[in-house]
Amino acid sequence: MKKLWGGRFTASAEEWVDEFGASISFDQELVLEDLQGSMAHAAMLEKCGILTKDEAGTIIGGLKQLKEKAEKKELEFSSKYEDIHLNLEKMLTELVGPVGGKLHTARSRNDQVATDMHLYLKEQVSEILALIAEFQQTLVGKAEQHVETIMPGYTHLQRAQPISFAHHLMAYFWMLERDKQRFKGALERINISPLGAGALAGTTFPIDREYTAELLGFGGIYENSLDAVSDRDFIIEFMSASSMMMMHLSRLAEEIILWSSQEFRFIELDDTFATGSSIMPQKKNPDMAELIRGKTGRVYGGLVSLLTVLKGLPLAYNKDMQEDKEGMFDTVKTVKGSLKIFSGMVETMTVNEQVMEESVRKDFSNATELADYLAAKGLPFREAHEVVGKLVLDCINRGCYLADLPFEEYKASSSLFEEDIYEALNPRNAVIRRNSAGGTGFAEVTAQINKAKKLLK
Ligand code: ARG
Repeated sequence: MKKLWGGRFTASAEEWVDEFGASISFDQELVLEDLQGSMAHAAMLEKCGILTKDEAGTIIGGLKQLKEKAEKKELEFSSKYEDIHLNLEKMLTELVGPVGGKLHTARSRNDQVATDMHLYLKEQVSEILALIAEFQQTLVGKAEQHVETIMPGYTHLQRAQPISFAHHLMAYFWMLERDKQRFKGALERINISPLGAGALAGTTFPIDREYTAELLGFGGIYENSLDAVSDRDFIIEFMSASSMMMMHLSRLAEEIILWSSQEFRFIELDDTFATGSSIMPQKKNPDMAELIRGKTGRVYGGLVSLLTVLKGLPLAYNKDMQEDKEGMFDTVKTVKGSLKIFSGMVETMTVNEQVMEESVRKDFSNATELADYLAAKGLPFREAHEVVGKLVLDCINRGCYLADLPFEEYKASSSLFEEDIYEALNPRNAVIRRNSAGGTGFAEVTAQINKAKKLLK
């Protein structure tokens, strides 16, 4: 079959070879962006006197028809025409005749594909930003209901100090806030136009790159035509921001998995976000959280894969760069899906407040309170630590908790102890009193939530 670029070729490639080189099976995802870029290009060619009004009108009319069909998913692509650009060019010339072939004046597939990817990511990152904000909203909503729900805070996955459950949820809010900033930073560099860079060197035609950039809604243009067609750093940045965010989501997923186990029983997932076992009737598995934890791997994979594809490439375009797409599409799909699932999963989960509080009362996470108590009365903290350590050991030997020890016991270990130690040992008080900036005290957590709500507005 004669290729659109077939002029200097005598033999035609075999079908299976074409198949290997084709990207249409996946780059058809860019159909609307490609049409949008072409319309802007045609309008610019007319404005600059490179196409006549009639020619441009015919071409843009044809592109509009293709767009309507594309939106209805009525276009049929073929790997005979390699990629989305050649497929659409073929369709256009079939529709409007040979004048369709003038569209490619002063343009190359190299600046064309780069333009498509910038347009695509610009839209996708905006959608992702909205999804992050939505999930943050869910977190804040849940947190508001649980300012006074206390739970064990952990280090080394060992109970450490009691905290507010809202505080724990809000930690993720702030991680996501920084994730949003990273995506916004990437967006600044996604928002520039490579169109008009040509194959690599620019063009002899009197084009207006600023004009196409403006028509496409870009904030500016690449200053160097080689750079414009050969870098994919804007995609890498997107994938890096995505990897970081997936790492955060994966940690929360891990906690949700732990919390919904019988060992913890802190939360119960809604049936919608859990599945059963085909053999064990009692099971309710946190599949969605596990999947998000698992899918984090493919997002990291996409990042490393693209970094590796680019690392040895001489300027400018190389076919290797066609490998930039599948990972990017996959990351977009994974990130959006994970955020949507998370919003629903957290929104609908039941929090077992009693179980959480019970587990703080039945452990030694109030030991720091006792040491702080002695330190506040003037005992050097190291000594206070030693005194309390001995009391904990005493409890472990007797099979009780600090609040169960009779007062005489306390008095015997330090004369600084007064009857009010039982107040200090109450884990609820331990939380309430931690009102240093950013601490877990109810007042501080409430202030934090209010700040978060302002940010979401
Ligand atoms: N399908 C190609 C890609 O995605 C489009 C650019 C092709 N350019 C070329 N000179 N072969 O990379």
